[in-house]
Amino acid sequence: MEGSSGQNNTYAKGLEGVIAAETEIGFVDGQEGRLVYRGYDITTLCDNSNYEEVSYLLNYGKLPNRKEMNDYLEKMKANSEIPESTYEIIEKFGRKTHPMVTLRTVISNLASYDPQESDSSIENQRRIAISITAKMPAIVGAIHRTIQGKDIIKTKSELSYAGNFLYYALGRNPDSVETKIMDTALMLHADHGMNASTFSSLVTISTLADIYSATTSAISTLKGPLHGGANERALKMIMDIGSPDRAGPYLEAMVARKEKIMGFGHRVYKVYDPRAKILKKYAAYISEKSEKKNIFETANKVEEIMINKLGEKGIFPNVDFYSGMIYYSMGLSPEIFTPIFALGRISGWTARSLEYLQSNKLFRPKALYVGEKGPKSYISIQERQ
Ligand code: SDX
Repeated sequence: MEGSSGQNNTYAKGLEGVIAAETEIGFVDGQEGRLVYRGYDITTLCDNSNYEEVSYLLNYGKLPNRKEMNDYLEKMKANSEIPESTYEIIEKFGRKTHPMVTLRTVISNLASYDPQESDSSIENQRRIAISITAKMPAIVGAIHRTIQGKDIIKTKSELSYAGNFLYYALGRNPDSVETKIMDTALMLHADHGMNASTFSSLVTISTLADIYSATTSAISTLKGPLHGGANERALKMIMDIGSPDRAGPYLEAMVARKEKIMGFGHRVYKVYDPRAKILKKYAAYISEKSEKKNIFETANKVEEIMINKLGEKGIFPNVDFYSGMIYYSMGLSPEIFTPIFALGRISGWTARSLEYLQSNKLFRPKALYVGEKGPKSYISIQERQ
């Protein structure tokens, strides 16, 4: 019976520790601090692959051969055209709307151009997945130009997925180092187990809704500060601290107020997030070459203090702690950091939605009813106090 506590009901708030699906796509080892995509360790992929290959790997189950890669890139190129109404929405929302609100509106609006948007066949859903993914670099780039008060770049770019994003976001061709760093960041963000935004996309797709709807659900979920919204707040906190010597008192005060320190802790990792390790190396590299050394030095001090204070509770830096300062060093505004997270995660959302559809089961958990069981008698409004 719905809501009754019985022998076959497990109750875990926030579904902590509950397995909701089987997958072959990605594995998060919270004790060893490992992230694996289809059997490949994330460090192996970051050293040897690129985002387009990883997107194919996640969605098709293997690294592509040369022909498969070219076909995939051709499909992405053929689907990268952005409808004029998309630019109109982005310009209209401009700086007065949070970029994640603009992003979810724009993705949802793409469905209005697709006569087959409700066809829930796997082939059609896969077509939609490629169509959305192909448009993301230009869409997120255009949103960034608007929040910076600059004109949207509409001339097509023939660069890589990461390179295209930086071109559309900054209005210039990125150099090879910037492109490599952004490409790595996007690979690191591509997939991560049953995280909240992926779970929300699966709940949506399990009703046989379309991938536009599932992606809109996922973007809405990612916006929250306990999930993708942490990267923007982590950098703002580091800049607010201002210098390594101010980190101690600042953090003491936050912990005393029982505030969560953005960029730390994780539901699964109880050790250092392997993605944060890779991003920290790039942050250190960039810091060495820039005059903004202070940001990295302050971050380093925050990490040292936090690990000393909460490390034994399994609280370490996560993917959101160092990513923001890397993007900031490239001239990207903090408000665009979470849309960049979505720019990477789109491949994981689509891969897992398509995988789940292969043996679909509607998500419909229970809630433990702790209210009055009744039945209560009805009192008319005239007689109510
Ligand atoms: C992402 O799921 C994913 O894989 C997500 C993600 C992905 O790739 O999709 O990895 C991306 O979302 C990374 C996380 C980004 N969010 C943040 O950085 C926000 C700050 N982090 C916390 O809100 C928290 O660590 C969560 C939400 C990430 C995880 O929290 P849980 O598993 O729900 O654990 P909890 O909040 O119940 O905390 C357990 C204890 C509590 O202390 P007690 O009440 O037991 O004494 O740990 C403490 C918490 O207060 N704690 C923190 C803390 N995180 C946990 N204390 C201070 N600062 C923190 N950041």
